[in-house]
Amino acid sequence: MTSIYIPYGTTEGQTAKIAEFVADVVRAHGYEALAVDVKHAGGTIPDGYDAVIVGASVHIGKHEDYVRDFVKKNRAVLDRLPSALFSVSLSAHGDAENAEGYVEKFEDETGWRPAQVGLFSGALLYTQYGFIKRLVMKKIASDKGSPDLDTSRDYVYTEWDGVKRFAEDFLAKVA
Ligand SMILES: Cc1cc2nc3c(=O)[nH]c(=O)nc-3n(C[C@H](O)[C@H](O)[C@H](O)COP(=O)(O)O)c2cc1C
Repeated sequence: MTSIYIPYGTTEGQTAKIAEFVADVVRAHGYEALAVDVKHAGGTIPDGYDAVIVGASVHIGKHEDYVRDFVKKNRAVLDRLPSALFSVSLSAHGDAENAEGYVEKFEDETGWRPAQVGLFSGALLYTQYGFIKRLVMKKIASDKGSPDLDTSRDYVYTEWDGVKRFAEDFLAKVA
């Protein structure tokens, strides 16, 4: 049976949720999927998978360094198997050019040019941030003219229909 490996990097948890959602979409289509946090994975893509979807989120202008290193280390497998990348950021919510720029930088750093790329809006998780991070994120949101400044709650921008389409487009190519 076709099985898909979904290694991801996450700092506040939204990319983990998206990776698990992608895995659920894959399973709903009758295939196998395993979403794993790169921090806790073995460092290499295990044998036996037919395709790989890598996820990472953006902080201070770049994706997680450990995802970059993971991709560099596993370049040969990613080039051999059908593979895709999804990038999670706030820029994906209304500033696609910026969101694309992060992916271009990631591609330049890793040398990996995934055939399919998803740009997904992340979340402002004010209630999970520490004091300083909460202030900084509120200031950034305010500077961008966002109305989402109530730090007693979270704002999730991820469009799950788009994530589902991304997973199904990938499956259509792999299956
Ligand atoms: C400290 C911090 C810095 C961030 N920097 C950026 C950034 O430079 N560009 C951007 O588009 N989003 C930025 N974000 C938004 C994150 O990409 C967004 O919150 C995403 O959902 C995080 O995913 P994660 O929960 O999987 O780590 C930042 C968020 C935080 C908390």
